[in-house]
Amino acid sequence: MVSVAVLGYGTVGSGVVQILTENNSHVSRRSGDAVNLKYVLDLREFPGDPVEKVLVHDFQTIVNDPEIRVIAEAMGGIEPAYTFAKQALEKGISFCTSNKELVEAKGAELIRLAAENNANFFFEASVGGGIPIIRPMIECLTADHFDEISGILNGTTNYILTKMDKEGLPFDEVLKDAQDKGYAERNPEADVEGHDAGRKIAILASLAFEKQVNFADLPMEGITKIDETAFAYAKALSASIKLLGTARRKDGKVYAMVAPFLVPEGDPLYAVDGVYNAIKLHGDMLENVMFYGQGAGKLATASAVVSDIEDCIRRLGQHRDILWDPEPRVLGDAEEYPFRYLVRLEEKDAGKAAGLATALGGEGVLDAPAGVTGETAFITGPVSRKELTKAAEEADVTVIQTLRLNW
Ligand code: HSE
Repeated sequence: MVSVAVLGYGTVGSGVVQILTENNSHVSRRSGDAVNLKYVLDLREFPGDPVEKVLVHDFQTIVNDPEIRVIAEAMGGIEPAYTFAKQALEKGISFCTSNKELVEAKGAELIRLAAENNANFFFEASVGGGIPIIRPMIECLTADHFDEISGILNGTTNYILTKMDKEGLPFDEVLKDAQDKGYAERNPEADVEGHDAGRKIAILASLAFEKQVNFADLPMEGITKIDETAFAYAKALSASIKLLGTARRKDGKVYAMVAPFLVPEGDPLYAVDGVYNAIKLHGDMLENVMFYGQGAGKLATASAVVSDIEDCIRRLGQHRDILWDPEPRVLGDAEEYPFRYLVRLEEKDAGKAAGLATALGGEGVLDAPAGVTGETAFITGPVSRKELTKAAEEADVTVIQTLRLNW
């Protein structure tokens, strides 16, 4: 029998407890040993909940119990999760987590600590909720160099953008609906400004390119400036607008960012709607592979945590290395990465639009989509943001919005 503990009895933690309880014989069979949930740590009381039998309030009770071999953390935030992870790993107790803040900031260090102590630090649930992406990257897709990893990594913003696209509703109204349905936080900044997706792409880029990508170094654009007119252009171009986290290797440099992109109908990311997430990888041999599923939610995320617990139990006393150099990578300047852009200009600049489009490798001015007045727009060829900004300044035009094309 192997004893395990869960830290945090919130949404994900209670899901982990539910799966360990309801699917216990299945989880035990897959782990190769009987799994015993010995402790759940939470500061709160839960009167009448069966968790009371295993509830403790002091982490030291858990970490000092020699029967505990695996700890699963679902508290969120860097502290005290980081201190708890270090204490556990130093004692050879494997540690799994759904906590993206912890993984992004301390993942490389905790993997090393796990290696030194013949234990494991696993974090499948930290990106993409229930979508298996980390384990496929480190165990299955190992023959390739990755060139690109891009995805819809935030369910809340994808729900908002899908509603705006399909129902023609304004951002503020859909955000309120998302909050009422419990998808978006009351303070939705981390979602709508792209920070949640930023942490996730930082983790994925660190794994894909085997070296720390710091969240703080990423340029992040959210979706607050996406309006009905942007969607009118998207429709005219047979595209939708998706918030993508993307990391790409070009000429020896890694470029990473979060930004809204126009995604064409033919792209598999186009069809990813609502709170679903999808992650697309491109390998030099494999070409494209895509993972799709529920990027958040209690049982989807908890399912990924429990699969990590099982993996830790199967590997007791044996470290499974994950290549992630802790030295921060100096990222390429995202302003220099070439994309095609939709450029929207004020109507006063209509006379200059065709010339500017040609200068930027584009093909002339777009017809105004139905209902759009008072502005003009064109598509550029592949140009850097720096070239685009410089050309717009030199032409002395007023840019309403630029949107990258994902094609
Ligand atoms: N706020 C996140 C989302 C939760 O909407 O995707 C999962 O990380």
